[in-house]
Amino acid sequence: MSAARNLQKALRPLARQVASPAVQRRTFVAAAGAVRAAAVSRAAAPVAKQQTRGVKTIDFAGHKEDVYERADWPVEKLQDYFKNDTLALIGYGSQGHGQGLNLRDNGINVIIGVRKDGKSWKDAIQDGWVPGKNLFEVDEAISKGTIIMNLLSDAAQSETWPHIKPQITKGKTLYFSHGFSPVFKDLTKVEVPTDVDVILCAPKGSGRTVRSLFKEGRGINSSFAVYQDVTGKAKEKAIAMGVAIGSGYLYETTFEKEVYSDLYGERGCLMGGIHGMFLAQYEVLRERGHSPSEAFNETVEEATQSLYPLIGAYGMDWMFDACSTTARRGAIDWTPKFKDALKPVFNNLYDSVKDGSETKRSLEYNSQPDYREKYEKELEEIRNLEIWRAGKAVRALRPENTK
Ligand SMILES: NC(=O)c1ccc[n+]([C@@H]2O[C@H](COP(=O)([O-])OP(=O)(O)OC[C@H]3O[C@@H](n4cnc5c(N)ncnc54)[C@H](OP(=O)(O)O)[C@@H]3O)[C@@H](O)[C@H]2O)c1
Repeated sequence: MSAARNLQKALRPLARQVASPAVQRRTFVAAAGAVRAAAVSRAAAPVAKQQTRGVKTIDFAGHKEDVYERADWPVEKLQDYFKNDTLALIGYGSQGHGQGLNLRDNGINVIIGVRKDGKSWKDAIQDGWVPGKNLFEVDEAISKGTIIMNLLSDAAQSETWPHIKPQITKGKTLYFSHGFSPVFKDLTKVEVPTDVDVILCAPKGSGRTVRSLFKEGRGINSSFAVYQDVTGKAKEKAIAMGVAIGSGYLYETTFEKEVYSDLYGERGCLMGGIHGMFLAQYEVLRERGHSPSEAFNETVEEATQSLYPLIGAYGMDWMFDACSTTARRGAIDWTPKFKDALKPVFNNLYDSVKDGSETKRSLEYNSQPDYREKYEKELEEIRNLEIWRAGKAVRALRPENTK
């Protein structure tokens, strides 16, 4: 699509800003503003407003929802709220790392529980957790904890539950970052004890981003939910936990809706669907005689470096408006054709999530002792696809990679 090429040049500073995790939002918006002025004059872009702090009811396209935010929970209030608690964070993968370090920096009494001498044990020591002080084996951490944060892999949550369940005694709180285990209890066998609060806070992103956004002073968007409220305080506790682990804004949901939307989204537009669409477009271009670089640039590079950041910053209509009339005409005409072709696939996917098929597949696969090696083999196959080899060569030409 030639229409966006001039724009692409003008957008490079924006792309660089998006790529840099250290950039503050203010800088991003300013950069986007400069790009906007240079690239297009016709569209008046929405002004990014600084939100006033406090719990607020927001109108999301005609649906009013309460949104909770960390400004209502200054760090002193958080520390006071959790002053009698020990948070036992079990598992130190991506989320354990991000949530654990943020809790520690917030001055909350948090300890880690992982398998001795496993990868996570070593990672935790690297991050400054000290064996016998705030790093323990799983059982010991649970015995010391009042709030048990189950951040094992979803497959491991199911596998270890018969051993862990008896330790979640009355008075403790059980916390998850995914609705997976309790919602699909027929498959996972995670039947929660009936006498404890069961809450969820699910950051909308990788644990690495949970940490980096916290360090930037921003905070990730998260959803929170209550599965079981025996104390009458479970909702408040879930919100406080959400802020303590580093969330900026918290959206209320249910365990069911969280797990359905999450499994659906990652298989769809977030990861699986987008990869399928990239492959289909690339293969047709190659079969019709286009070179790998042309097919890659037209499929992935322009999308990720030029157009998708505009959708993220200002929305789809603004991105369309920033492109030529020729490009816009085609995009508007072809949208319903793609939507009609893909909607049945998305409906199949949602059914497969809701009826537990995706959970079953995930549990079976991820419980195999050699699942890591098997994934690595699949990732190696993806890495070696022509599209991604071409991509590597294209990325190598970026100024930051040619120094
Ligand atoms: N990653 C994300 O982007 C993300 C986002 C939102 C929510 N979540 C949710 O957060 C939770 C944690 O996910 P994650 O990605 O951080 O973790 P993960 O990488 O999937 O899990 C790793 C942890 O599980 C432990 N583990 C695995 N098998 C075990 C076993 N049999 N016994 C004891 N420990 C075992 C590992 O310990 P070893 O090192 O000892 O093997 C490691 O500490 C999940 O419910 C997930 O759905 C994840």
